Amino acid sequence: MLRHILVSYLFAGLSSQAPLSRLKQSSPLKFKADGTFQLSIFEDLHFGENAWDQWGPQQDINSVQVINKVLDFDTPDLVVLNGDLITGENTYLENSTDYLDMIVRPMIDRGLSWASTYGNHDHQVNVTGRTILERERRWPNARTSQMVFGREAGVSNYYLPVYSSNCTKTAQCTPELLLWFFDSRGGFYFQEWDGDGSKVGQPNWVDSSVVDWFRQTNQKLVAQHQKTIPSLAFVHIPTYASLMLQTKSGVNGNRQPGIDDDYPLAPQAQGWCPDGRNDGSCSYGEQDIAFMQAITETAGLMALFSGHDHGDTWCYKWDTLLPGMTVKGNGINLCFGQNSGYGGYGNWIRGARQVLISESKLEDLAIDTWIQLESGDTVGSVSLNSTYNQDHYPETPNDKTHCPTCDYHHDPAT
Ligand SMILES: *[C@@H]1O[C@H](CO)[C@@H](O)[C@H](O)[C@H]1NC(C)=O
Ligand SMILES: *[C@@H]1O[C@H](CO)[C@@H](O)[C@H](O)[C@H]1NC(C)=O
Ligand SMILES: *[C@@H]1O[C@H](CO)[C@@H](O)[C@H](O)[C@H]1NC(C)=O
Ligand SMILES: *[C@@H]1O[C@H](CO)[C@@H](O)[C@H](O)[C@H]1NC(C)=O
Repeated sequence: MLRHILVSYLFAGLSSQAPLSRLKQSSPLKFKADGTFQLSIFEDLHFGENAWDQWGPQQDINSVQVINKVLDFDTPDLVVLNGDLITGENTYLENSTDYLDMIVRPMIDRGLSWASTYGNHDHQVNVTGRTILERERRWPNARTSQMVFGREAGVSNYYLPVYSSNCTKTAQCTPELLLWFFDSRGGFYFQEWDGDGSKVGQPNWVDSSVVDWFRQTNQKLVAQHQKTIPSLAFVHIPTYASLMLQTKSGVNGNRQPGIDDDYPLAPQAQGWCPDGRNDGSCSYGEQDIAFMQAITETAGLMALFSGHDHGDTWCYKWDTLLPGMTVKGNGINLCFGQNSGYGGYGNWIRGARQVLISESKLEDLAIDTWIQLESGDTVGSVSLNSTYNQDHYPETPNDKTHCPTCDYHHDPAT
């Protein structure tokens, strides 16, 4: 076993670096003494592309650099990996989770902890949420877990409480903030083929068993603490509401600053029929309605952060009943992050969304957020407060990473 681990690290190209140190078991998340708590959200890192040529491994090196640079420019209290950590359709069964060690090394080096959601590319024939989670849990800095079980639940469904800095016994404290993580699944079932030898597609929405767990767990927490606890949520694939905001209301560069190149964007339940078929005959099956109802009925839930659509980086306050929808927005902010990886499609400049939560603003359910780019620049700084959508901000420049060897090339042979 030990030999296997060592060999894996050698293959992962980590042998030239300092020995991997094991940090002490993660302690509870807490606000800093100044009353703030900051997140860095990396999304769509897409490690492990084209392992068989030189381009793929070079993109992994570039993506590690993005993480290192962002963490040095603006060190957070928690890193969120918001799905598509690994391009699973390109990786080999034997070593597909080795890439996880490369991804988390920058956090290990800095003594930071992280929490993941899994994306459609993390659920493939040769890798899946369960195997990535096992690999993550080798590291005490991993806060990713699984609180809902069953074939249809996905894996990365859990929550993390964040306590005030003055809390000494967490069992006796009321969390100041809750972080909810959801698995929007998609991709394919692990090591499954149908009678024709084809991969078996996995539904691409948050399952109703997870929605039930979310509602019940939140109700219990409210009852236990006699308080609505402010919260944030993370899911890889955005909901249909993001698509309707984009196409019916329209993203305004000064009101919802950010890149809006993935138009129309790809939401949950895309490509599925209401009756559960995914044979290409339907564009949208409405299976994310239960999840949208739950998030709009959860008091204190300030924002839902997604990735998946690499070319979209805006936040939109969803506060209306949009044409063609049955669920009405309650003012929750639906945000994309910034494309972080050199694998995966697109050349939009790489970076990470930063989220600053201040205890003093939680009474108004307001948070601040901006994008830290690997260039060192920050863009798209906004306050997600009660007047977001009306406040005027500078437009976000639509910059690309100029790097001839980085251009996306995906070998259709796989
Ligand atoms: C996984 O194995 C393949 C095939 O041997 C190899 O090309 C690739 O570099 C390996 N990846 C890692 C992360 O070790
Ligand atoms: C999965 O891993 C196996 C074993 O290494 C490999 O033969 C296959 O090409 C990989 N990819 C897919 C999509 O099955
Ligand atoms: C700890 O800080 C929180 C938030 O600032 C405050 O509400 C609470 O009263 C403080 N508790 C103690 C014991 O000081
Ligand atoms: C929301 O934040 C913006 C930008 O900081 C500010 O101009 C606006 O006044 C704030 N709105 C409220 C209600 O505080």
